[in-house]
Formats: sequence, structure tokens, C-alpha cells
Amino acid sequence: MILTVTDLAKTFEMHVLDGTRVVGLDGVTLQLAAGEFLAVVGKSGSGKSTLLKCLNRTYKPTAGTVRYHPADVDLVRADERTILELRGDEIGYTSQFLDEIPRVSAVDVVARPLREQGVAPARATERAEDLLDRLALPQSLFDAYPATLSGGERQRVNLAQALASKPRLLLLDEPTSALDPRTRELAIDLLDTYLPPETAVVGVFHDPDIVRAVADRVLVLDDARPVRTVDAATYEGVDA
Ligand SMILES: Nc1ncnc2c1ncn2[C@@H]1O[C@H](COP(=O)(O)OP(=O)(O)OP(=O)(O)O)[C@@H](O)[C@H]1O
Ligand SMILES: [Mg+2]
Repeated sequence: MILTVTDLAKTFEMHVLDGTRVVGLDGVTLQLAAGEFLAVVGKSGSGKSTLLKCLNRTYKPTAGTVRYHPADVDLVRADERTILELRGDEIGYTSQFLDEIPRVSAVDVVARPLREQGVAPARATERAEDLLDRLALPQSLFDAYPATLSGGERQRVNLAQALASKPRLLLLDEPTSALDPRTRELAIDLLDTYLPPETAVVGVFHDPDIVRAVADRVLVLDDARPVRTVDAATYEGVDA
């Protein structure tokens, strides 16, 4: 087992709205085994991104536990340093919106975390270029700043960065939403061929075709709460 999530919840205190509370996530309990791919689906605002951010500790959950078994820690209560150590080679994450725009080249966005993990610089660059190549990012853009790239190009750089170190747990928030069908196909192939079989993935997707292609199980959220878990092979959509 990689993850055991119990009664996970996140409530936002809206200070600007006089302390009004918004429930982002409530009562999520699940288990994730090594090699398993869990798709998270649900209408806009149902809590999908909040769940991934709680697992990545971008958000500090308000209740519940997230036991990350390989390091035997509760991600809800672990200190900042432990979380930072886990990010990268243990836990990889791509956010839904491409908000991080560092002043480094696209290839370096992907290669830098590898170098920080001890991969030799030349080897790190080679791996980064290979990943970007497999996502059909034109080589002429490898040295460009991500800020100058299109949405779909940036999304590929982000995905390559999250995959590069082959983390044990990968959290993907709509990683192919800005891609055209052919590039999306490449991204899905890459998930299949680049990651070791024991990698566990929690991925947010809207398209039932993609869910059936990549996932084993599907968690359906509605209004911040889990409503059902279904077998991905028979999944036809949130309302089906
Ligand atoms: N930082 C925040 N502050 C306040 N409320 C938030 C915050 N993040 C999320 N929420 C609220 O939590 C709820 C769930 O949002 P979330 O982003 O998880 O939805 P989602 O399922 O990912 O939607 P989408 O499909 O549109 O990406 C929403 O009502 C949202 O307004
Ligand atoms: Mg979202």
C-alpha cells in the first residue's frame, strides 16, 4: 500500500467574507496500492483540485489523516522539512493551472530537480530532452522560458517535470487539458511507458475516454464529498 486516506477534509475560512466557511473537501477515505491509477472526477468545484492539493500538502487539511506508507508518515501532520524531502523523487505533482513561471529554460525546468537528486548534469539534461521530445515539444523551444510558451507547451513542460524523477506517487491535476488529441495521446503513452509499473497515480480527468484508457478505479466527487468509486473499465461519465 502507498496511501491510506481517512476522513480527509479541508474547510476554507474566508476572512474577506467575514469568516464565512467554504467546504472544499469532506469525508474522503481511500486506499491506493503501488501501481494503481485512481482517476478523480466530478463537476467543476466538486473538490478534485482540493483533494490533490491536500495530498501534496499545498493545502494543509483541516481534518483526517493521509498515511504515506513508504516513509511511514502522516502527510497531514508531517513538518515542512519532511514534506519538502518527499517532493520530487517520492511525490510528484502537476497543478491544474500553470502558475509557476521560473526564469529558467524549459529543459532546465525538467532537468533541475533531477540534478538536485544527484543525477549528473549531462545525464539530467539528456533525460529532460528525451521527455520533452517524447511529448513532441519542438527542440527549438527547449531553451525558451516557459513564460513565452503556449498553454499546451507549458503543460507538457510541467508534465515532463513531474514525471522525470519517476516518483513513487504521482498527483496529476488535469495534465492533458490544454493538449490537442494527438499530443494528448503522446502524454498518455508516456504515462504508460516511462513510469515503472509500481508508480501509483492519482489523476484528475474530465474525459471518460481518457479515464478508461489510463485508470483502474474512479473516485466520483460531488459538492466536496465522495459519492462513489467505480471500476474504470465501465466508467462512462459523471452523470452516467
Ligand atoms: N484557496 C481556496 N480558498 C477558498 N476556497 C477554495 C480554495 N480552493 C478551493 N476552494 C473552494 O473549494 C471548492 C472546490 O474547489 P476545487 O478547486 O477543488 O474544485 P475542482 O473540482 O478542482 O473544480 P474544477 O473542475 O473547476 O477545477 C470550490 O467551492 C472552491 O471555491
Ligand atoms: Mg480543479
